[in-house]
Amino acid sequence: MSEFANFSAQSPAHNEFRSDTFTTPTLSMVQSLTQATLGDAVYNEDDSTIALEKKVAAIAGKEAGLYCVSGTLSNQIALRTNLFQPPFSVLCDYRGHVYVHEAGGLSTLSQAMVQPIKPTNGRYLTLEDDILPYFIPDDGEIHGAPTKLISLENTLHGMIFPLEEIKKISKFCKANDVRLHLDGARLWNASVATGISIKEYASYFDSVSLCLSKTLGAPIGSVLVGDRKFILKANHFKKQNGGGIRQSGLLATMAITAIDENLPKLKKTHEWASELGKLCDDNGIILEHPVETNFVFIDLKANKIDPSKLVEISNKYGVKAYSGRISFHYQVSEESFEAVKKVVLEAFEYAKEHPHNSSDAVRFYSVTEDE
Ligand SMILES: Cc1ncc(COP(=O)(O)O)c(C=O)c1O
Repeated sequence: MSEFANFSAQSPAHNEFRSDTFTTPTLSMVQSLTQATLGDAVYNEDDSTIALEKKVAAIAGKEAGLYCVSGTLSNQIALRTNLFQPPFSVLCDYRGHVYVHEAGGLSTLSQAMVQPIKPTNGRYLTLEDDILPYFIPDDGEIHGAPTKLISLENTLHGMIFPLEEIKKISKFCKANDVRLHLDGARLWNASVATGISIKEYASYFDSVSLCLSKTLGAPIGSVLVGDRKFILKANHFKKQNGGGIRQSGLLATMAITAIDENLPKLKKTHEWASELGKLCDDNGIILEHPVETNFVFIDLKANKIDPSKLVEISNKYGVKAYSGRISFHYQVSEESFEAVKKVVLEAFEYAKEHPHNSSDAVRFYSVTEDE
């Protein structure tokens, strides 16, 4: 067995549909390590890390970037940096990762109240229907916690946030002294799907967090971008939260390779998702919402599919599609794609014969289900 066998063979993630975070480093990423610089990034002395930060900042059209160990860290320090003196609140979608999946960081790190809003249209927040009715002005009224930050997510559950609505929200924020953050963990996907550049999207936000380890396939990290002053302060919070990484050049070099090599591969992941979405539509399988990028959300409850049966059928076909959310990433193989289609159809057929009443259900939870 060659010493690089783990990297050159088919990725172990070829049958992995739980999340696009399961991608594994490629041979070229590992080979790029030989080019990495080995400076101390906490002292800002590592050229590879600086190159990655500059590269992503340039893609986003922002002055500066900050390499962080995770999307959670880059989101939470961005929120913290955008906020000043409590009391204040942060308005976001009720499904927002910053609210639901970041271990309550907004309450502990930022001491913020959260205003989680359910979009009227079921998909994305709009200024008229969702933000204006809940916006709390900082006007001297002392019972509320003024809205000082709005945090959007694009894509959210694979759905694209329309640019026209972002423009309206951004204009409102500027006029009302409210900061606007974007959890752009998968902004890459939105950009590939719409043809709108990352730079155009980012221009409407004060800060944007772009993940490297999800859809793009780098092993670790996220880059937070914003203006120079903002990033300097964010770096302070990064250090405070134990986020300083010493010889991060190794990781940064792999991330640069991931951006260069894998961004063009995202389109295929959207095509797979769209094909599975169509298969569901053609067979009367109810989806939670339309497929727009690399996720298909099958409504297990509405289809009366038993989650444990889904796991059983998945295992039978040798793939990991363990919840209603089927994720696509560039390392999925054609064989696994064919298999996952069979899994979905068989689980649905089984549900017709044996409808699962979700009130009997024990809540099925997988750590990766919503990440
Ligand atoms: C939309 C979104 N934002 C942020 C994160 C956090 O990223 P990390 O897992 O690197 O902390 C995730 C994780 O999956 C995510 O899906």
